[in-house]
Amino acid sequence: MTASASEETRVAAITTGLDRLKRSLRAGARTAADYRFREAEWSPGLVAQTETSPAITATMADFGYLPHECHGRPDVPDTLAMTGPVALLTPAGAQALRQIGHALKESAVHNDYVVSHRIRNVETLSPFVHAMVRDRAFLHRVSALVGVPLIPHPLRDAGVQINYYDPPAGGTQAAPVAKWHRDGMNYVFTMTLSDHGEHDGGDYIYYQGRPEEFDARREEITSAGSRHPEVRTAPFRHVGDTMFTRGSRVYHAVTPVTRGHRITLAVSLFCPLLGEQDENRFWHSAPDDGLLRTVNNWRLLRQAVRRPGAYCRREAIPVLPTPARR
Ligand SMILES: [Fe+2]
Repeated sequence: MTASASEETRVAAITTGLDRLKRSLRAGARTAADYRFREAEWSPGLVAQTETSPAITATMADFGYLPHECHGRPDVPDTLAMTGPVALLTPAGAQALRQIGHALKESAVHNDYVVSHRIRNVETLSPFVHAMVRDRAFLHRVSALVGVPLIPHPLRDAGVQINYYDPPAGGTQAAPVAKWHRDGMNYVFTMTLSDHGEHDGGDYIYYQGRPEEFDARREEITSAGSRHPEVRTAPFRHVGDTMFTRGSRVYHAVTPVTRGHRITLAVSLFCPLLGEQDENRFWHSAPDDGLLRTVNNWRLLRQAVRRPGAYCRREAIPVLPTPARR
């Protein structure tokens, strides 16, 4: 392995402890008040209907988890760790999201906590995305893939995000990455809004093993990156390709882009039947959104966990029966 190859793929791991408190005191969520892009109109017909046989389907057992460590309850098994690529939207739907992603790029902020360059709370900015994550056909599609009913996540700042990866502009600036991390969110769908041919690098990589194994071998794994025997690369190819990841249980990262540009949409969802098992932690969100905003977000999350039916009625969110997983 050459030094340059190592530099191209090496991604640091997320910080913890006092650094999170310092970031929480500095951070404040910013909104794109002047977003005036003429979006395509959302339609349920933009939800993909084709059956897929994804290249990757891995259960929690495949990651070394024991049955009692998995989410779910006896009548709601919930053991999928990873699957994809799949299409959630038709090509026209994915292209509409790609245009929205480009239009919102000006509003994205730099932050070296997890993802270098991104915009949070997209659901509040984009009428298309707001309608999409509340659409019965869309929720049916994502729920069927995972096997539990899913709704848009009550933590709206973190619920839908768009991440931007570009080569560094100057000699000293580092290329945007997603550091090695686990999400607060249990159910995360990552959709590429770029064809892979549009960029070099920018690979979504993940560690196929237990988090404590990753933590114990952090230096070895982050140094080797995609060359590590337990590190896999998600096979994103075309605009719209989507991976499901149990983000809170799977360490993952995105390598630096060395040519071209990459945009991804991350949609995190919530299971109203298993709300108590949501793994978000206050100190995971606060460094991105600031302390005050995180306190308010947390109040809304607790409401949704305690009274999911009332939450869905108030938010006009359709709740689907527990689906049979595809
Ligand atoms: Fe993530």
